[in-house]
Amino acid sequence: MCGIVAYTGPRPALPVLLSGLKRLEYRGYDSAGIAVETQERIAIRKAKGKVSELVKLLGESSDLETSTCGIAHTRWATHGPPTQENAHPHAGGKQGIALVHNGIIENHRALREKLSSVGYVFLSETDTEVLAHLVDSLYQGNLVQALTNALKEVDGTFGIAVMAHSEPGTLVVARRGSPIVLGLGEGETIVASDASAIIKHTRQAIYLDDNDIACIKGSELDIRTLDSGTVVRPASEIDWSADAAEKGGYEHYMLKEIFEQPEAIRNTLRGRLDRDRGNAILSGLGLSPRELSDLHRVLIVGCGTSMNAGLVGEYAIEDFAGVLAEVEQAAEFRYRNPIVNPSDLVVAISQSGETADTLAAVREAIDKGALVSGLVNTVGSTIARETGRGVYLHAGPEISVASTKAFTSQVSVLLMMALKFARSRRMSQEKGRRMVKEIEDLPSLVEAVLAKNDEIAKVAERYVDQQSAFFIGRGYMYPVALEGALKLKEISYIHAEGYHAAELKHGPIALLEESVPVIALCNEGPGKDKTLGNVAECQARASRVLGIVTEGDEEAIATVDDHITIPACPMHTSVIPATVALQLLSYHIARLRGCAIDQPRNLAKSVTVE
Ligand code: AGP
Repeated sequence: MCGIVAYTGPRPALPVLLSGLKRLEYRGYDSAGIAVETQERIAIRKAKGKVSELVKLLGESSDLETSTCGIAHTRWATHGPPTQENAHPHAGGKQGIALVHNGIIENHRALREKLSSVGYVFLSETDTEVLAHLVDSLYQGNLVQALTNALKEVDGTFGIAVMAHSEPGTLVVARRGSPIVLGLGEGETIVASDASAIIKHTRQAIYLDDNDIACIKGSELDIRTLDSGTVVRPASEIDWSADAAEKGGYEHYMLKEIFEQPEAIRNTLRGRLDRDRGNAILSGLGLSPRELSDLHRVLIVGCGTSMNAGLVGEYAIEDFAGVLAEVEQAAEFRYRNPIVNPSDLVVAISQSGETADTLAAVREAIDKGALVSGLVNTVGSTIARETGRGVYLHAGPEISVASTKAFTSQVSVLLMMALKFARSRRMSQEKGRRMVKEIEDLPSLVEAVLAKNDEIAKVAERYVDQQSAFFIGRGYMYPVALEGALKLKEISYIHAEGYHAAELKHGPIALLEESVPVIALCNEGPGKDKTLGNVAECQARASRVLGIVTEGDEEAIATVDDHITIPACPMHTSVIPATVALQLLSYHIARLRGCAIDQPRNLAKSVTVE
C-alpha cells in the first residue's frame, strides 16, 4: 500500500505534493519521490527513507519551485527493497514519461523481458518501472491512449498517476484495485490514493471506479473506462477530518486493518495459487519440489502473534505434508542450543522483519547449517535480507501495535506452504485442487465475519468489566485461543490466558468463578464435542461462556451463554474467521473500556531489543 499525490493547476506543485506525502506516510514510508514539470524536462527527485529525507534532498531546489504540475509517491516496498533506485516516480526510458504506482503487477517479469528485448534498460527491481517503460513504448503523443493500451497488457492491481513532458500541465490517472481520488479545486485538481491528502485543499471529491482512467488539466476532467468512452462520476463531499481520513474513516488503525483483511489476504494469495495443478507457487522460497521432498523437518520461529501463526503452520505442515514440523519462541530457540540439521528448513515469521529475538534465531539457525527462509511483511527488512529467501506477505503496512492482518496473511502463507510441501510428497492433484479452493475462499470467510461487527460489538458489552478471562480451544483452535488471549491482553489490559481446552482441568479451572468468563472455540471440527464438555465444566464453576460456533450448530449455541457464529469451513481454514471474530471482540471490549487501542501502554510495534 503506497501513497500517491499529484497536482495540476495554477499554484506551485511542490508544496502540495510534499504536504500530501506527509499525510500519506502511514501508507508506506521506506522511500519517497517527486516528479515535476520544468521547461526542459520532467525533473525527478527520489530518496530512501521517510518523506523528510526527500525534503532534505530537495533543499532549496529553486528550479523546481515554479512548476505547477507534478506527481509524488511514498513507498511500501513489494518488489525490490527500499532503495533510492527502487523509489518512485519511475521514468519511461525515451520519451519523458514519469509514473507513480500503488499495487502489484503480476506479469511484470514477462513484460520486463519483452521491453528489454527492444532495448529498454532497467535501473530498478520494481514492477512499476516495467509499467513506465511499457507506457513509454506505446506513447505516440497521446498519453491517455498510451496508458490505456499499456494497462490492457497488465495483470494485477494499480492506482497510477503519469505525466509526459510533451503534454504540459496534464495528468493521466487510472485505478484497478488500488484507490484513486480526485480533489476538485478552483482551476486545479489534487489526486491522491486517499482523501487525507486532499482535505486541506478541498472537500469535493470524485472516487474513481476500477478500470477508470482520467485525463486532467487544471480543473478540466475527462473520465473514461479502459474499455469504453467517457463516463460521468459524481462528486461527493468528504465529511471526514484529515486524521479520520488516514484511518479510512475508521476510529482506529486496528479496526481499519481488521477490515482490510479480505483485501490483504487477496494480495497475499495473488499469483501464488495454481488451480489447474492444485499447488502453490512460492518461488521466493527458492526450493525445487525435489529439494522440498528432501526436507526432513520444518522449524518455525517467531514471537507473539507471529509465533501463534507458526503453531497453525506446524499443524498444517504435519497434517497435509507429513513433514515433521515444530514451532518455537524465537528467544528460546536461540539460547537452548537446539539440534538443527542441514536437512532442516527454518522459517522465521515476522511482520516487521526486525524483531531482535527472531533475527537472533535466524542467525543461530544459519550458524548451525540449516536452510533458512523468512515469512515477512516488510520488504527489505533485516530478517528478509539475512534469510535471503522466503515469502513476503504483501499485507500492506500494519500501523496498529496489535497485529491483525499480518496474522491472517501469515496463516494464509503457511497453508500455501503446507500445500506445496504436501504436493511434493503424497498429496494428489485432486486433493491439491480442493485445498487451493479452500484457501481461495479465505477472503469471503473473513467478509462473513466482518458483516457481524455490530453483533460482536453488542456481545462485547457483556465482557467489558471482567478483570480476567480464559480462551480455550483444541487442535487448530488452540493457536486461535492463544492469539485471542494475546489480542485481549494487549489492547484492553484484561488479564487473559489461552489454554488447550483439555488442559483447563489440570489447574487453571481453580481460577474459574462468576467474574472469570471463558471464550471457547467450539466451532465444527474434531474435538468439538469434547470442548463442549469443557464448556459445561466451566459453567459448573459459574463462569459465563462465550462460544465461537459454526453457523447453524444449534447444539453448541444452546450450550454456551453467548455466541458468535462463523461460516462452516474446514478446520484448517476456520482458524482465520475464528481469529477475526476474536479480533473484533477484543477491539470492542477495549474500545468500550476507553483504551488507547493503536498504541497500548508499554508496547512497541516492533521489538528490536532482546
Ligand atoms: C502482536 O499483536 C504483538 N504486537 C506482538 O506480539 C508481535 O506479534 C511480536 O512482537 C512479533 O512481531 P513481528 O511479527 O514484527 O516479529
